[in-house]
Amino acid sequence: MISPEPSETPESPEALGLGALRPRLPSPVREAVDERFARRGVRLLLKRDDLIHPELVGNKWRKLAPNLRAAAGRTVLTFGGAYSNHLRATAAAGRLLGLPTVGVVRGQELADRPLNPSLAQCAADGMRFHFVDRSTYRRKSEPKTLAALLRACAAEDAYVIPEGGSNSLAVLGCRALGEELRDHGGVDVAAVACGTGGTFAGLAAGLGPGRRALGIPVLKGGFLDAEIRTLQDEAFGGPRGDWSLDDRFHFGGYARTPPELEAFAADFEQRHGLPVERLYVAKLLYGLVALAEENAFPRGTTIAAVITGSPHPRPAP
Ligand SMILES: Cc1ncc(COP(=O)(O)O)c(C=O)c1O
Repeated sequence: MISPEPSETPESPEALGLGALRPRLPSPVREAVDERFARRGVRLLLKRDDLIHPELVGNKWRKLAPNLRAAAGRTVLTFGGAYSNHLRATAAAGRLLGLPTVGVVRGQELADRPLNPSLAQCAADGMRFHFVDRSTYRRKSEPKTLAALLRACAAEDAYVIPEGGSNSLAVLGCRALGEELRDHGGVDVAAVACGTGGTFAGLAAGLGPGRRALGIPVLKGGFLDAEIRTLQDEAFGGPRGDWSLDDRFHFGGYARTPPELEAFAADFEQRHGLPVERLYVAKLLYGLVALAEENAFPRGTTIAAVITGSPHPRPAP
């Protein structure tokens, strides 16, 4: 067995065989001076995971990298909705690494319509699509349904990544995000927006003692505590880290972006020159400002908000 070079960590791009992707790691951290935090004696740092890679943006790099390695050159098949960031990132990774990719897309009706810009990008990157009705899509992880889907896609040998990319390898990949914040020093609270909870499950595990992870779910439902516990059990064999969720900032559910949230995000962009992704990052930042205004953070707290994505398409510089 060839041991990694001494400079390689187990999750470094070289050790993963993904050096061609050239990610920027550790991702940069910068302070956002914002009076809504400053007047309460709280510091806000932005952990710029959106700068890791132009196409495998933010948590997509962290979740996909270990899975791409495990795919070992096989076709990668995964799942998503019509605007899925995860599908786009998988398709881009396929193009960059020369791996065939298949996207199982929710919504049979989309098969007969022109592709939206997000799916058009996936197609341009070489992704093949298989559109399925919503009921099949809901059952996609059941072994019989999955086997039928793989047959229908002529991809029986494919490496399958779940919707949103959150499996054990992804959670292990996201642990490095927590470790980077631990090593940065001075962070008390690390906050991230949650969809499936995979990024958060890993982040919480990597932070180490004395720091806590705060998750802001963007979906309505209150089911995420249990899912995060399961993800941590599967990845680490038990619970890890000091973490909690605040369920009040989903704005009615996934992809709901009412005018109040839109105005907040536009204002944050102006104040800090940060392109704010609306479905996840805007809800995280809104939640943090609201919590600061409730005096939820003791004076002297330093919060690191993880910027897990950027708007699509990216605004012109
Ligand atoms: C920009 C962005 N932030 C956060 C998340 C949430 O990640 P997770 O599904 O791991 O909770 C996603 C979804 O993958 C995302 O696209």
